[in-house]
Amino acid sequence: MIGLGGAPLALTVAASCFLIALLPFPTVANDNLRVAYQWNQIDFVFPSETERQEAITTRRYIPENVLPVGLEVYKKRLFLTLPRWKEGIPASLGYINLNETTTQSPRLHPYPSWSAHKRSSETEAPEIVSPFRIRADRCGRLWVLDTGVEELLGNTTVTSPTSLLVYDLHNDNLLRRYEFPADHIKENSFYANIAVEDTDCDDTFAYAADLGSPGLVVYSWKQQESWRVKHHYFHPDPLAGNYNITGINFQWDDGLFGIALKAQPDGYSTLFFHPLSSLNEFSVSTKVLRNQTAATGENYHEFKILGSRGPNGQAGVAFVDQKTGVIFYALPNLNAVTCWKTSNRAYTIKSLGRVYMSTVDMVFPNDVKVDDESNLWVLSDRLHQYMYESLNRNDINFRILTATVKDAIQNTACDTNIKPLPDIITNLGDILRPSTSTVAPKAGSSGAGALSSAIGAMAVFAILSAFSYVRI
Ligand SMILES: *[C@@H]1O[C@H](CO)[C@@H](O)[C@H](O)[C@H]1NC(C)=O
Ligand SMILES: *[C@@H]1O[C@H](CO)[C@@H](O)[C@H](O)[C@H]1NC(C)=O
Ligand SMILES: *[C@@H]1O[C@H](CO)[C@@H](O)[C@H](O)[C@H]1NC(C)=O
Ligand SMILES: *[C@@H]1O[C@H](CO)[C@@H](O)[C@H](O)[C@H]1NC(C)=O
Repeated sequence: MIGLGGAPLALTVAASCFLIALLPFPTVANDNLRVAYQWNQIDFVFPSETERQEAITTRRYIPENVLPVGLEVYKKRLFLTLPRWKEGIPASLGYINLNETTTQSPRLHPYPSWSAHKRSSETEAPEIVSPFRIRADRCGRLWVLDTGVEELLGNTTVTSPTSLLVYDLHNDNLLRRYEFPADHIKENSFYANIAVEDTDCDDTFAYAADLGSPGLVVYSWKQQESWRVKHHYFHPDPLAGNYNITGINFQWDDGLFGIALKAQPDGYSTLFFHPLSSLNEFSVSTKVLRNQTAATGENYHEFKILGSRGPNGQAGVAFVDQKTGVIFYALPNLNAVTCWKTSNRAYTIKSLGRVYMSTVDMVFPNDVKVDDESNLWVLSDRLHQYMYESLNRNDINFRILTATVKDAIQNTACDTNIKPLPDIITNLGDILRPSTSTVAPKAGSSGAGALSSAIGAMAVFAILSAFSYVRI
């Protein structure tokens, strides 16, 4: 379990008193997200009910095949990608208008229009084929990373090259289409995730992660060109490819996947990244990535390893909230969302905070974003069940959970309300908080004595850890 980390239960009374005095707030369980929307199956706003029925009859729309994978929220529109894993996906990008939703299971509008998802002729590819993830930048542009691949689980067809489509969110016009050059597409290449560095609206950079042939594409909006970066750290860890989620066991060897940007005072950003099948987190400055010569040359030592999330800590998507500097992770193998304060020098199980964990609501967390009003949004979609078994139309299969960032990180290792404490004690707090908040419910059920015992154990552990900081 996250944050619990199997800390030993040996303790002293003195240590537990010391510790309780240090704790800046009471220990309570977190899991502060609420389900905002949920669906058994995804439905669309068709031009008419007749057209909807016709789409079902002709199998242009097969409801059980539609699975939301990517999420984005921009000024009261919540976007979802619906990749063409199988046939019968009428639109692979849609949205709901948050102003207008009156139900928990709203129908999706196609984005930008129905025609963008239709072939104008047999030989012509639709404008948008099959995006997995999207990103709305602060300049009002929607970046759509389109894999161009249809029926990934079936008769796989490459309909168009992997492309970046950029829409103007003010009027939904397509501003630009950029096809990845042929040398960016290696055998097994698959670009499923995007991050956008939008500090400067005219000099914006997009980063696309290749999980199949581990690599990172850097795209310059200004130069209208891209380059592909390679690094050892983009590769999966062969020992971290086993997944066991709700009793379904499978193996994946996906490389670079999670990419999250944190803007820095020097005008560049830190890119936090990890392969999907890996427990480790890494970082690199975009000062290196944005310089084509530096990025594609001898770059080994520019990349840093931060630490490990521990057993079953494989992470999918990650996203940094710029205001708090907290990074959020989707952890499919733990049915959880966790967080880490990027200002924290330690990257360990203990320095990660549990945001939400559930074998009901958080089965396969697949995308995580923070909108410009500081709300955290998480999509969970049972992807593994869709791929290896089948979804039950009588179950709630897809959920969107939300909370303010403040509520989401409250009482976790990522809580930012501890600034005034001296550095050493702050570090001590970082180590303590996830443990105590995870322990609390269990301890509560077995009496107050057990609670202070558990806290005492954490104290011993934390003090030892704090000393190791001093030595470094
Ligand atoms: C939502 O409502 C606000 C206030 O009425 C309006 O300014 C905004 O344009 C609406 N957004 C959408 C997407 O309809
Ligand atoms: C693949 O295409 C063939 C021929 O069109 C068809 O018979 C078969 O059912 C398709 N398979 C899937 C999984 O869609
Ligand atoms: C997967 O987890 C279930 C419990 O959820 C357990 O019973 C099963 O043995 C595990 N399978 C593997 C292969 O680890
Ligand atoms: C880009 O990197 C190269 C090689 O590391 C370096 O010589 C050059 O000065 C860099 N260019 C800029 C604009 O920083």
